[in-house]
Amino acid sequence: MSKILEEYFRPGTEEHALLEQVDLARLPRHVAVIMDGNGRWAKSRGLSRVEGHAAGSESVHETVEAAARLGIEVLTLFAFSRENWKRPRQEVGRLWQLLKEFLKKEDKLLVENDLRLRIIGRRDGLPARVLRELERVETLTKNNRRMTVVVALNYGGRTELVDAARRILEDKRIRPRDLDEDVFARYLDTAGLPDPDLLIRTSGELRISNFLLWQVAYTEIWVTQVLWPDFRRRHLLQAVVEYQRRDRRFGDVKSRERGTA
Ligand code: FPP
Repeated sequence: MSKILEEYFRPGTEEHALLEQVDLARLPRHVAVIMDGNGRWAKSRGLSRVEGHAAGSESVHETVEAAARLGIEVLTLFAFSRENWKRPRQEVGRLWQLLKEFLKKEDKLLVENDLRLRIIGRRDGLPARVLRELERVETLTKNNRRMTVVVALNYGGRTELVDAARRILEDKRIRPRDLDEDVFARYLDTAGLPDPDLLIRTSGELRISNFLLWQVAYTEIWVTQVLWPDFRRRHLLQAVVEYQRRDRRFGDVKSRERGTA
């Protein structure tokens, strides 16, 4: 085990015991996360929902760091859905504020650690100041290679699919008979990224919630009861350990069952 990992996942702790169960040669390339439960976490402590989101930002920081240290290539975080606009104005305003603070505080960390930021979702609906800040950090980190942090903002899976279809129709180079799954995927917001291998959802809900509808076709889903503000590096490791126990067949039979039909 490398020294960097030993220092971060301290020997003698639960997270270290979990790390020892992880096969670092078979990590999920892309981990996506539905960060849920900020409101319930706050309510159970007599706090406001916005305080739940603020606590959730700490979990974002820890998860980004843990994923990068482990060697994951892409980490996608569902931060704001198209449906989230229905929330009270004050809560929505605070979420954008938190995102801006996060970018201001973490941009140096992204640069120093060779992390790239990429945004998916409808940019045209984002508050102008937030979009400027996001695009500044995207440009600043565009050549970074260690891990890509994808943040889904004003994102909805169906909207992404409709937008992709529209772009295809508008692209005069595409003839209907040339359209296949690979070509289609190039028109999605996630163009060029591998599909998620592992989707983590916190707070126990068993739903996809309009997240990455195309991309999760064969993704392994891991749901934890842990609320997002309580999510720590050990939970990421639990998810990876469980993922590595699964038998991913992509519609095929198990390799050892081949030829026995
Ligand atoms: C879901 O909890 C969480 C969100 C809608 C927002 C997630 C945002 C953050 C963690 C803030 C910072 C983000 C970044 C990228 C810095 P919920 O409010 O739906 O909780 P509930 O289901 O318990 O009500």
